[in-house]
Amino acid sequence: MEPAKGERAVRVLIIGGGGREHALAWKLAQSPLLERIYCAPGNAGIAAVAECVDISAVDIDRLEEFALKKKIDLAVVGPEAPLAAGLADRFHRAGLRVFGPGREGARLEWSKIWAKEFMARWGIPTAAFAVFDDYDAACRHLEKHYAGRPVVVKADGLAAGKGVTVARDSGAAVEALRAMMVEKDFGAAGERVVIEDCLEGEEVSVLAVTDGSELVILPPSQDHKAIGEGDRGPNTGGMGAYAPAPLLTAELARKVEREVFRPFLAGLEREGIDYRGVIYAGLMVSRSEINVLEFNVRFGDPETQAILPLLESDLLPLLLAAAEGRLAAARKELDVRWRDGAAACVVLASAGYPGPYETGKVIQGLQEAAPAEGSAPGRKDGVVIFHAGTSFDSQGRIVTAGGRVLGVTAWAGSLPAALQKAYRAVEKISFEGCYYRRDIGPRALKK
Ligand code: AMP
Ligand code: GLY
Repeated sequence: MEPAKGERAVRVLIIGGGGREHALAWKLAQSPLLERIYCAPGNAGIAAVAECVDISAVDIDRLEEFALKKKIDLAVVGPEAPLAAGLADRFHRAGLRVFGPGREGARLEWSKIWAKEFMARWGIPTAAFAVFDDYDAACRHLEKHYAGRPVVVKADGLAAGKGVTVARDSGAAVEALRAMMVEKDFGAAGERVVIEDCLEGEEVSVLAVTDGSELVILPPSQDHKAIGEGDRGPNTGGMGAYAPAPLLTAELARKVEREVFRPFLAGLEREGIDYRGVIYAGLMVSRSEINVLEFNVRFGDPETQAILPLLESDLLPLLLAAAEGRLAAARKELDVRWRDGAAACVVLASAGYPGPYETGKVIQGLQEAAPAEGSAPGRKDGVVIFHAGTSFDSQGRIVTAGGRVLGVTAWAGSLPAALQKAYRAVEKISFEGCYYRRDIGPRALKK
């Protein structure tokens, strides 16, 4: 593989088809280094900035065939499933460059047990825990240690974001355990579980681009996981986000680097794990204490929609340098710069989500909400609508095609201004059953 040169013409393939992938495509499409950008499978919004290819994000055979045929220089993987399935390993064997870890690195996300043990091995702060593969033993542990006190039960494997139960006491936790280990609600993913202390505090996500030896930390962000205002109701994939999150002061940010990311890199090196991509640390912050709740091995969604509009410099050379393992050497020339101010993303969802919902509803007002000139990336403020679950109907109209439909995103000189801009745009958009939270951001505004 040739190292990147200044005037290189790069052919990119983004894998995935949600708001995160739209944000990546939108930002990468602005790069002067870019020759062509494809997205598999993409969506109706991504089609405006990339050539969508009708291949599923987990169809590794066809993705590999496509990437070879189109001489792709960089594959950028959005979701965890293809990473857990070993997409990056396959692509590497075929001589393709990938932004996203191999199956071994992705284990930090596809096995919560392995992630907890990795943290324990490398002294990364996290809640005290125990691991079980036997239901009765797990129940005894709950009764012995958590009678009348909150506790968290986690299925080991990937469970579409539903594998974690924060239980108010051991009784409620036993129910969750039963669903996982006896009823097998999550199949093999729930055969083994983590039982851990329930932590208090406020959550923040810190993402870093890494090549396994060096890292570039992105502005901290906060997701809003619950469907209802005031953080009530069931958890979703995320109903909105903003960045930077003022909760993470400069001092805490240094602590995260020192106590989480540096030991993470040391652990990778000592365990011989090749990791090129994003590491996402979901943190619980309580005064000056930080603990890792989870690692994800990919960009967060919707966090990425709020982070990328803040990136002033080019994203493509950063991802290339990480994929090529030369972040430390490239650091100076990369000159990663972030814009002052803040960005906010408000997710518009289909009625019923995260439960069952209907699709195929015509979406109106997209042009009015975000006129093309208003989303030019160089502007000090702007609005851009990232599509999550959309497609074209037979008449070429943009219709809903998922639970999370749009991520209405704005950036401005301050968080209140960004939120106001985003909500103004939201009001111009309509589709039958459109639901969104009106309270994205108040925790930050209180600071
Ligand atoms: P995870 O997938 O591990 O991030 O868990 C999903 C959500 O469960 C997190 O975003 C937290 O809100 C919550 N959670 C996970 N672990 C804990 C914990 N030890 N204490 C309190 N809440 C937790
Ligand atoms: N927004 C949470 C995640 O991407 O995992």
